[in-house]
Amino acid sequence: MYRIARALLFLLSAERAHRLGMTLLRWLGHLSGMCRGMRARTLAAVTYDASVKVAGLELAHPVALAAGLDKEAEAVDGLLALGFSAVEVGTLTPRAQPGNPKPRLFRIPEHRALINRMGFNNHGAANAAEHLRARSWHPAPVGVNIGKNKDTPLERAVDDYVACVDTLAPLGDYVVVNASSPNTPGLRKLQEPEQLTALLRAVKERLSRVAPGKPLFLKIAPDLTPEAVDEVVDVALACGLDGLIATNTTIARPFEHPLAKEAGGLSGAPAREPANAVIRRAFARSGGTLPLIGVGGVFTAEDVYEKLRAGASAVQVYTGFIYEGPGMVRRLLEGLGPLLARDGFRSVREAIGADHRVPPPAAAVPERQASHPQA
Ligand SMILES: Cc1cc2nc3c(=O)[nH]c(=O)nc-3n(C[C@H](O)[C@H](O)[C@H](O)COP(=O)(O)O)c2cc1C
Repeated sequence: MYRIARALLFLLSAERAHRLGMTLLRWLGHLSGMCRGMRARTLAAVTYDASVKVAGLELAHPVALAAGLDKEAEAVDGLLALGFSAVEVGTLTPRAQPGNPKPRLFRIPEHRALINRMGFNNHGAANAAEHLRARSWHPAPVGVNIGKNKDTPLERAVDDYVACVDTLAPLGDYVVVNASSPNTPGLRKLQEPEQLTALLRAVKERLSRVAPGKPLFLKIAPDLTPEAVDEVVDVALACGLDGLIATNTTIARPFEHPLAKEAGGLSGAPAREPANAVIRRAFARSGGTLPLIGVGGVFTAEDVYEKLRAGASAVQVYTGFIYEGPGMVRRLLEGLGPLLARDGFRSVREAIGADHRVPPPAAAVPERQASHPQA
């Protein structure tokens, strides 16, 4: 059924289709009985032990929604009705800003991909806080993903993140420092060890005062070199961060296409391997001690399973959801059980990081790793 809806939605510009989808999800969110029923029916697809714990967050299963879809926290209940085990809102900045000029979102169906250069368009942290405050249904964790305003100089970035913590952290179940969007000039520099340490220390200190105990994550780019991933992991551990979200969109263009020249971040199927390489590297560097949420190119249960085995404790989806539609969570959950059973895992938890424990057959690894320079 979504195939027909998608064909119609794809007749609209990507951003119009997004707005329409968000409006429908917002309306759905007002029908609380229907939301509860829909969520219960999706979760009934879990006939195996799917629960995971990520940095203290209890998730019913490992499939969550990535940041960027519901930037304003306007459709959280509608999204939870679709069965996601957590929803991340944002990226939010202290002050409202329009983002980049349109067009700024492009579909590339041939590659099951999107390119976006939205540029943190949002109505500001206080507006999202109103939406979060108005919610009364709390079946799963909601994360708040925060960033800096475009016109805030990089030297003052910390102030913006801290301001967002003040406004949003008490209303979310976890906080994400987004230092990896390619669409805010200079933002990714915040991933460098010295700046990152200062940023994370300041955010953590404020978080401990305004919302003690709430986990803090850092969202990182897939374009980091393997050595840079190691550095980020080391800083994260030194700062007592609760986990990493790996990864944001990539600035690489691993295919030729008329739209490939559009500036912005690439997501979807071409982002899968780069994200997985970062997950593997971060898991190995931390010896599995730093919880990871894997994101990038998840479309199928196999994709979820691959990220779990690579070291992610949960996954998030964005582009896959645009292509696969509202039934996606259910399909992923139905498909994951047999994959776990096939390999003798009694729970999702047992599969996390499995690739690091059992050396895969010698022939299988070099080929996959060689296909991506980060591995
Ligand atoms: C249109 C669009 C907007 C996005 N906006 C944000 C954002 O505001 N903050 C953020 O942390 N990630 C944002 N992302 C990145 C996604 O959360 C995700 O990390 C990335 O798209 C890779 O996952 P995917 O392949 O499942 O889409 C955005 C992605 C897309 C496609």
